[in-house]
Amino acid sequence: MTDLDALPPDFRWGAATAAYQIEGAASEDGRAPSIWDTFSHTPGKVANGDTGDTACDHYHRWPQDLDLARRLGLDAYRFSIAWPRVVPLADGTVNPAGLAFYDRLVDAVLERGMTPFPTLYHWDLPQAQQDRGGWPERATAERFAEYAAVVAEKLGDRVQDWCTLNEPLCSSWLGHLEGTMAPGRRDLTAAVRTSYHLHLGHGLAVRALRAAVPGARIGIVNNLSSIEPASDSPADLAAARRADGHINRWWLDPVLGRGYPQDMVDLYGVELPVQDGDLELIGAPLDWVGLNYYFRQIVADDPAGPVPRFRQLPGPNPERTAMDWEVHAPGLEELLLRLTEEYGVRRLYVTENGAAYRDTVTADGRVEDAERTAYLEQHLAACARAVAKGAPLAGYFAWSLLDNFEWAYGYDKRFGLVHVDYETQRRTVKRSGHRYAELISAHRAR
Ligand code: NOJ
Repeated sequence: MTDLDALPPDFRWGAATAAYQIEGAASEDGRAPSIWDTFSHTPGKVANGDTGDTACDHYHRWPQDLDLARRLGLDAYRFSIAWPRVVPLADGTVNPAGLAFYDRLVDAVLERGMTPFPTLYHWDLPQAQQDRGGWPERATAERFAEYAAVVAEKLGDRVQDWCTLNEPLCSSWLGHLEGTMAPGRRDLTAAVRTSYHLHLGHGLAVRALRAAVPGARIGIVNNLSSIEPASDSPADLAAARRADGHINRWWLDPVLGRGYPQDMVDLYGVELPVQDGDLELIGAPLDWVGLNYYFRQIVADDPAGPVPRFRQLPGPNPERTAMDWEVHAPGLEELLLRLTEEYGVRRLYVTENGAAYRDTVTADGRVEDAERTAYLEQHLAACARAVAKGAPLAGYFAWSLLDNFEWAYGYDKRFGLVHVDYETQRRTVKRSGHRYAELISAHRAR
């Protein structure tokens, strides 16, 4: 039995999803393509040629999905708003039908007694913005803030908890440096400029949200890793420092008011397109910081490799998920404490945490995902330990409510607490989902 007593009484129990991963309805009600439509429809980019065209059909099945969330006992639901539904084209015209979908969704979340936690950008840049240069261009940050203002005006009377960006690391390093995610570029300069303009877009959106929603509680979501050097050699220690810069500090320092880490600016050798006042905007105070935690990274020096010249080695724990990610719950505790002690963050959420396994539905309709259940318990226990040591952790969002489109990995990788049969769109709560519900109700009953 997991001891979650240390978690505060008003702890938020949630689950997370993202628009392109679940909604489908890719060309309904005025939605225009995003970079993920383009990428997934490009042969060879996504496993099995999967696309988000239909996904979990959540665009039509949201009442049932929200009922499921409620039945699990969740009191918070993190979802993302699709920019390509709300402002589909480059001319800035708002699509009322797109906005209306999120208007209904928010009402429905509230009606079920849950708190909505929308994310404004979960990787689905309108293709029309990409055609104008995308995130390497400053104008994209400005367009993002305009879109954020539109959403805030519509939903701000009911939504207090806002997240600007999800995992800007992935948009920048995977989307523009490694090319494994949309838009699939491999260009260090474009990648660094992307990171900068994402941060600027975040800062401008924070300003727009504060203007439109008095009392808004605003945060940003980063995926961080605990980093360990492969050995004590000076070269590996230096590689671990670079990896920490590339994966953690580059994403935390600027948005927490510390500016960009100089060692990384020097290493990338790309001039940041800073204009007067940008760093203050980017580093404006936040109400919370979200941590998406999946794995640690053990890194070794890679002097001949591309900047930032480190490579990742497999972790020693033989337990691995279907993504081949090492299971290592202590890394979550470590990062929560680091955000508390080193960065002085005053309110934290685990905005995503979860694991993919090869789930199957038994003949009598059950999904016995013992590994995911253990993973969930271990990581919640790590949260409780961090809280006992002083981390101001206010909630936990499991990734994910539903099995969904796992980006370049397609539908094979199942992260849900609820199984989705993509042929029939039938939903089945997995054992991990039932266990989560039990843990939630036990914590509430304390
Ligand atoms: C983080 C991303 O935010 C989410 O979209 C993705 O599905 C999970 N990680 C699992 O890889």
